[in-house]
Amino acid sequence: MDLKVQSLHKSFGEIEAVRGISFELKAGHVLSLLGPSGCGKTTTLRMIAGLEFPTSGRIFIDDRDITNLAARKRNIGMVFQSYALFPHLSAFENIAFGLDTRQVNRADRERRVKQALDIVRMTGFENRMPRLLSGGQQQRIALARALVIEPDLLLLDEPLSALDSKLREEMREEIHRIVRELEITTVFVTHDQSEALVLSDVVAVMNAGLIDQMDTPQQIYRAPATSFVADFIGGANVLTGHRDPEGGLFVCDVGINLLLSENGPATAIAIRPEDIELTELREEVESEPRDRVKILRARFLGNRFEYTVSTETGHSLVVRSDSHVAHREGQTVGMRFRADRLIVLTN
Ligand SMILES: Nc1ncnc2c1ncn2[C@@H]1O[C@H](COP(=O)(O)OP(=O)(O)O)[C@@H](O)[C@H]1O
Ligand SMILES: [Mg+2]
Repeated sequence: MDLKVQSLHKSFGEIEAVRGISFELKAGHVLSLLGPSGCGKTTTLRMIAGLEFPTSGRIFIDDRDITNLAARKRNIGMVFQSYALFPHLSAFENIAFGLDTRQVNRADRERRVKQALDIVRMTGFENRMPRLLSGGQQQRIALARALVIEPDLLLLDEPLSALDSKLREEMREEIHRIVRELEITTVFVTHDQSEALVLSDVVAVMNAGLIDQMDTPQQIYRAPATSFVADFIGGANVLTGHRDPEGGLFVCDVGINLLLSENGPATAIAIRPEDIELTELREEVESEPRDRVKILRARFLGNRFEYTVSTETGHSLVVRSDSHVAHREGQTVGMRFRADRLIVLTN
């Protein structure tokens, strides 16, 4: 079902947790709310679930206004970071819980729980108590419990963050498979950019109670709308500066001049760490002058190196390159930006 959120605000006393959020999510699509801790993701999700009521603004499911509807009257499935399984109920009873408040007959109850177990690949575990299940298995049961009610909307609040990295990737793929198979409208909350990029049709990047940008994962990465988004997604270097009134040059405060292909306003340039090239000075040809930087820190990450370099003005930049050429800490090297990868920011 379609979800529509209009100018949602939520204050807790003095704290404005959500400061005016609007978006529309088409039926069957997956939206990620992505942002750092404290930016208002959980509060937004809880308002959609009916666990919290907005200070102002409206929420619609398929044009039905549910803003003030009690949580139990919304047909919404929710999965929490902490799993929140009932410890004294078996896996089966945990999953059946949502059905028991909905007066489903015995045969249907059995059938639907088994089906949900099958979807999350936990058939055979129905009699296990939660404490005898691993973190990943508990998360699958929590997901089955949310799915068994055949919800209009699935809400997932950082469902993977309690899992170790291998399991996290596996569960991420499972969630992807399940929401695509069931074509269920899903809002996924995370602070992890790779989860958001991989899982969603649309990503809304949140910053201090507002959405900075809402777009497809590729657009968010390629054309970040603000410095915050550029930095938060992919850790771009954001270089503030001004246009040289004379011509096409952008004069960065870090002492580098960049030639921009387009005219128009520019307050900063973002460049991703992988779009900066470092070269040994002796390889430099006279016709192609480069800026010089000093390697402050070289981190070997297996498949690549990540360098922190210092410009002549003493500003730091982050550069990533493949691991076949290594530069040493303390070395001075040439630096070049890939001109076609410069991202012009206007705010
Ligand atoms: N029940 C509450 N009472 C007071 N402040 C709250 C409450 N819930 C959230 N907040 C505050 O609202 C802001 C947003 O919180 P939250 O939505 O949990 O962020 P996120 O999920 O993005 O980490 C934070 O500053 C948080 O401390
Ligand atoms: Mg949260």
